[in-house]
Amino acid sequence: MTSEKSSASPHRPPRGGFLRFLRSAAIFFRGFLEHPSMVASVVPSSQATIDGMLAKVDWDRCELFVEYGPGVGTFTTRILDCLPPDGKLLAIDTNPRFVDFLRKTIPDPRFEVVLGSATDVERIVRESGEPHADYIISGLPFSSLPEDVAQQIVAASYAVLRDGGAFMTYQFRTTARDLTAARFDRIDTGLALFNVPPCVLAWGWKEKPAAAREAAE
Ligand SMILES: C[S@@+](CC[C@H](N)C(=O)[O-])C[C@H]1O[C@@H](n2cnc3c(N)ncnc32)[C@H](O)[C@@H]1O
Repeated sequence: MTSEKSSASPHRPPRGGFLRFLRSAAIFFRGFLEHPSMVASVVPSSQATIDGMLAKVDWDRCELFVEYGPGVGTFTTRILDCLPPDGKLLAIDTNPRFVDFLRKTIPDPRFEVVLGSATDVERIVRESGEPHADYIISGLPFSSLPEDVAQQIVAASYAVLRDGGAFMTYQFRTTARDLTAARFDRIDTGLALFNVPPCVLAWGWKEKPAAAREAAE
């Protein structure tokens, strides 16, 4: 389990309910059976993983949060609980079944889900009318992606983040963490033991260019 204590400060009460949980579990499992390598997991992420990952987010400095591979919305609903009232959550998933489920079950005006690939994040953010993303969280199965696609996603994520923003990954293997370490200016890592299976957490930080940092000092 990550040693981080959750500092998420919810702006809204948690939503959901047992019925949504059952429906989402069934849709997630069906998504796995149809596209095993794209979904790459039989069960969604645990609450400990979600809270551990989001603990480093400064919600007061979050206008645009981007989520790759939301699946049935395991992280999505928690992000919306924490997001400021004028913030925006833009989710991107390649699976039309998941996109349709999220559109039907999350009628939050701050939430938009796009059917597409994380490789196109720069265009998708531009088309949403925002100059950059403050945070990106990725639920993508990085080790199942072709290497050039995985590298393209990490590079596009770096490009679209503001200075001080973070690219966050959780994955059963170390691929996402290693790609993030190679591209980002600074990295924090953790381990979520209470997850099926346990997973590796990573936060890649985009820092101000050295010149801008010196000028600011
Ligand atoms: C392991 S599931 C993660 C689900 C959920 N975020 C969770 O933590 O329980 C991986 C998700 O990534 C999506 N996906 C796979 N490749 C993608 C890509 N290139 N761009 C966007 N989503 C993708 C799949 O459709 C699936 O919803």
